[in-house]
Amino acid sequence: MQQFRIAVIPGDGVGKEVIPVGQRVLEAAVAQEAQLDWHLFPWGSDFYRQTGALMPPDGVEQLRRFDAIYFGAVGDPPHVPDHVTLWGLLLPIRKQLDLFVNVRPIRLFPGIRGPLRDKGPEDIDMIFVRENTEGEYAGVGGRVHVGTPHEVALETSVFSRFNVERVVRFAFELARSRRKHLTSITKSNAQRFGMVLWDEIVQEVARDYPDVTVTSLLVDAAAALMVRAPERFDVAVGSNLFADILTDLGAALMGSLGLAPSANLAAAPGVPSLFEPVHGSAPDIAGRGIANPIGTVWAGAMMLEHLGLTDAARRILRAIERLTNEGKVLTPDLGGTATTEQVGKRIIELLDA
Ligand code: NAI
Ligand code: MG
Repeated sequence: MQQFRIAVIPGDGVGKEVIPVGQRVLEAAVAQEAQLDWHLFPWGSDFYRQTGALMPPDGVEQLRRFDAIYFGAVGDPPHVPDHVTLWGLLLPIRKQLDLFVNVRPIRLFPGIRGPLRDKGPEDIDMIFVRENTEGEYAGVGGRVHVGTPHEVALETSVFSRFNVERVVRFAFELARSRRKHLTSITKSNAQRFGMVLWDEIVQEVARDYPDVTVTSLLVDAAAALMVRAPERFDVAVGSNLFADILTDLGAALMGSLGLAPSANLAAAPGVPSLFEPVHGSAPDIAGRGIANPIGTVWAGAMMLEHLGLTDAARRILRAIERLTNEGKVLTPDLGGTATTEQVGKRIIELLDA
């Protein structure tokens, strides 16, 4: 039997509630086919309170020997500032492991009433490819004259040809495997340097993919179009910030932020990729056992697919579709009354239905 070593970082808030449910669904789905060896890392805000850091100094090195990383969420406002939690755990993992793209599918599941009156599952089915290691989240900047009326803060975006090209190429490949349409999202009218470079690279790479049609949109227009005509999107590629924002919009189109998954893929072979729900630690509902686990379960399915366990991944997706279609066991964000645990249990029952 195949064995996979998986690092599990539940993190904070609802991360600790949805990850165990995800683990149980994955276990049930792979059953005889593979063995998942989980290794739990209790990193996050509690770890920070005990040790002064979100993870140990060699944390990222510890992760390197795993086949994949299953991540919940990090954030404990107002106790720990959000930039401390994010920059102490998730962002260093993404950057140091060179998890260069963040793949975020957006689909309206059958049975779910999304916020768009006239749009059904056939209209909302897209995948975002988010640049994941630089751009607006490069971490370049500084503050001077701190605390004075003359205080200045600089937050510099970084766009390197090498990185933008590999992200764009990944998006073209993905588009080629789907409906062969790519939307590239920038703001190159107002941002004259990095975003113009991005547009140029898209034009260059497009020559290698004559079978893929390309649309370039400004980010504000893209936001409007996602609401007005989501069916125009197949694969979309955008910068770290823009795709971060637009995928929360995408999650809203799906009916709940709790449904959206993401895969942070490593550029180099042998380096673990990281799979997580799009949502954060949801402090407003944490501790009540009512967080929607579907985004985490779906992220787990993406992890299995990445590990080559495609059959198990497909069965999980089908079980989620059956669950939403029957509409009986849903968490409150989808208008139901079920708990996180009950949804997980029902997904497991539906694996073989
Ligand atoms: P959030 O995603 O945690 O919550 C936004 C809204 O969506 C809340 O009303 C929440 O209840 C709801 N929601 C989120 N996940 C849900 C689920 N599984 N089921 C049902 N409802 C769900 O974003 P927010 O409130 O902006 O941030 C909270 C904390 O999470 C902050 O510390 C933030 O920095 C952190 N965060 C961490 C992320 C990560 O670890 N990848 C991503 C986004 C935010
Ligand atoms: Mg986000």
